[in-house]
Amino acid sequence: MVKRHVLTSLMILLGVLAWTNSYGSNLARADETETAIATDDVDLEAAEKIFKKSCRACHGNKAQGAASYPKLSHLEPDYIAEKLEIYRSGEKIGPNSILMIQPAKKLSDEDIANISVYVATAFD
Ligand code: HEC
Repeated sequence: MVKRHVLTSLMILLGVLAWTNSYGSNLARADETETAIATDDVDLEAAEKIFKKSCRACHGNKAQGAASYPKLSHLEPDYIAEKLEIYRSGEKIGPNSILMIQPAKKLSDEDIANISVYVATAFD
């Protein structure tokens, strides 16, 4: 009798775990399709030009960062794109956002997609 009770609780627990698991991954997937950048569709040469002209003076030759200029090379493309869009909108999200808002305002949606993949992949 006790044994059966334990077995039933275990099965309920497993059921709940399976449910939360699939619920969680569905959420993650919905999120991905919304912001994901098509990595094979980007122009890395154009991105390199932008990086050399408008980013590396602060973030470093290899996007390694320095002092209060954050390192970028370890970040994911989607994260970089999201941040650039926020800066482009003029929103302050950190103590030195003012320095990022100007360079971000010059970027088109296409530039952002290109540069985000470039920065995340060119310096591995
Ligand atoms: C004038 C210096 C400067 C230039 C030029 C510059 N950045 Fe930045 N960047 C910063 C600073 C400072 C921060 C941190 C801002 C804050 O406190 O919100 C930052 C933050 C970022 C972040 C967010 C990092 C994180 O960990 O959340 C990204 C992404 C980024 N920059 C990308 C770029 C790209 C791409 C370019 C070129 C188009 C660029 N930056 C040009 C100074 C600069």
